[in-house]
Amino acid sequence: MSLLVIGGSAANGLHEEIASILGVEHVSVEYKVFPDGESYVRLPVDVSGRDVVIVQSTYAPQDKHLLELILLADAANDLGARSVTAVIPYLAYARQDRRFREGEAVSVKTVLKLLRSIGIDRLFVVEVHKEESLVFFNGPAYNVNVMDKLAEPFKDLASTEDVLVLAPDIGARRRAERFARSINAPVDYLEKRRDRVTGEVTVKPRELNVKDKVVIIVDDIISTGGTIALAASQALKQGAKKVMVACVHALLVGNAMDKLRNAGIERIVATNTVPVPEGVEVVSVAEPIARALIEL
Ligand code: R5P
Repeated sequence: MSLLVIGGSAANGLHEEIASILGVEHVSVEYKVFPDGESYVRLPVDVSGRDVVIVQSTYAPQDKHLLELILLADAANDLGARSVTAVIPYLAYARQDRRFREGEAVSVKTVLKLLRSIGIDRLFVVEVHKEESLVFFNGPAYNVNVMDKLAEPFKDLASTEDVLVLAPDIGARRRAERFARSINAPVDYLEKRRDRVTGEVTVKPRELNVKDKVVIIVDDIISTGGTIALAASQALKQGAKKVMVACVHALLVGNAMDKLRNAGIERIVATNTVPVPEGVEVVSVAEPIARALIEL
């Protein structure tokens, strides 16, 4: 088979898992950073005439990881690959999907336009912040839904306990609903506001039906942990028995883990779209990605 899966330096092992599910060859890119900070990449095998799948996540340092992907995709085209597919498990810049304040860059638009312009034929991302953003790629772009996978570790719990799935803001509602359907649990939501200048988050008080329930907060991204910590304290204040978290991309920057623990969160489940620290249970998204690739 001519399919070749290439892992960039931020593939987080997913290229090996995906290739093994598909039963195809995989290689890791040769990558280094020069003393002045510039990136160097080299494809270690001949890609001529092959359908190439490049797996590269774009967690921090986002710009370096993005540029590495751009270098790799352009090199694969130069070297005669028959097609270039990019799998970006975590797509950076996806939250800046519109001009919230006059003069801002619509970052996700720029990033996706750039990826398309250097000859990426097809794009796969995992639970992107807003699926509508993929239109900016201006080509075949697919959002891999992993809510069923993320919900798997909670199935037993949901069959023995009174569980409520909670979306920490309205934007997370549809995602939380998909998660809740998977474990057959009810769902509710909070209304969060974020100050566009300071980044500070506040939650509009709202009565939740959480008394004596196990609450699972579901979101796409945990960055500073502020959103989830606020949602957890609302749930606990209103009588929740326990609070747990299921999140796709656990960036967990700075002291986010401490913030979550201090907010009374007992369990955190996330995927391997980004590397996660100890204490987080990890679910692999290799299988839904491989399935999406096969479907095409
Ligand atoms: C934003 O709408 C996202 O879905 C997340 O809720 C947000 O990125 C979380 O950020 P933080 O952890 O810094 O509150």
